[in-house]
Amino acid sequence: MRAIRYETYGGPEVLQLVEVAAPIPKPGEVLVAVRFAAVNPFDLKLRSGAMREVVKVSFPVAPGSEIAGAVSAVGSEVTALAVGDEVFGWATGGGYAESATAATVIQKPAGLGWDVAASLPVAGEAALRGLRLLDLSAGETLLVHGAAGAVGSLAVQLAVSRGVTVIGTSSEKDAETVRELGAHPVRYGAGVFERVRELAPDGVDAVLDTAGAGDLPGSIELVGGTRRVVTLADPAAYELGVTFSSGGRKDQTTDVLQQLADAAITGAVVVAPARHLPLAEAAEAHRLVAAGGHRGKVLLDL
Ligand SMILES: NC(=O)c1ccc[n+]([C@@H]2O[C@H](COP(=O)([O-])OP(=O)(O)OC[C@H]3O[C@@H](n4cnc5c(N)ncnc54)[C@H](OP(=O)(O)O)[C@@H]3O)[C@@H](O)[C@H]2O)c1
Repeated sequence: MRAIRYETYGGPEVLQLVEVAAPIPKPGEVLVAVRFAAVNPFDLKLRSGAMREVVKVSFPVAPGSEIAGAVSAVGSEVTALAVGDEVFGWATGGGYAESATAATVIQKPAGLGWDVAASLPVAGEAALRGLRLLDLSAGETLLVHGAAGAVGSLAVQLAVSRGVTVIGTSSEKDAETVRELGAHPVRYGAGVFERVRELAPDGVDAVLDTAGAGDLPGSIELVGGTRRVVTLADPAAYELGVTFSSGGRKDQTTDVLQQLADAAITGAVVVAPARHLPLAEAAEAHRLVAAGGHRGKVLLDL
């Protein structure tokens, strides 16, 4: 099968299109004929070597964790899925490929579009986890850094649907989008906390940082402590005593996938349209994600 691999850390150019044998599903796994594989910022951090102290890899690396496609083979102990089922969820690795093994996928509801299915798992799980850690109640006020991004936009919508008042930071061009998501937009960058205080003179109850852009000290001051500040993206958290939530396999459940699918189908969350590139242009896909400035996932088409 055709797949993307890299043999060394480096820039997007290390991503190579290669021919390899299709993987064989282990007990509890299915093999998915991938239709779309999403590119996530994590994939870029892993490829560049920025995560080398935290995540050990062995080369060649098979990148990509978020997929949608159809089951093409079923490992032992799998009872909920059969060959031909259309599914979405997490690949156990190597999502940028014609076939990928997966332990946590669910059937794609007919009412859930392919692009949305392929865009939801990573960002949606992170958004749900961040909100859960902050333990928000209806009527409270939440500040979301990066409110127009994949994780941030889902966090905004999920929080608003629970009766939380949300202030969301974004670029000027995304302000109207942030408003449409249900939040009060505030432009990110120098002076951001002065602008937030104009909307919330007494501060906010909690902060979810999905941008990792150096706003934790100001967030701690705004909330009046570290307890209700959570970041998904800023390693400065460790020095500042803030929770850095990185998630893991235990957080990637079929319940979470079902919850996200339901939220998308009922319209509780809307996902920005994706941009599509062929598998062979995985390097260009990484450049697009690194450049930022666009809403919506970048999907590799198989
Ligand atoms: N810990 C976890 O479990 C977990 C899970 C998923 C993702 N993440 C991390 O979370 C981060 C966001 O992921 P994503 O998929 O949502 O990426 P994304 O779609 O690129 O969103 C990032 C957003 O942050 C905005 N931004 C840039 N600079 C900012 C600033 N100074 N203040 C506020 N917002 C700013 C970007 O706006 P522009 O487009 O204008 O630049 C963009 O809208 C990444 O670092 C990713 O690795 C962590």
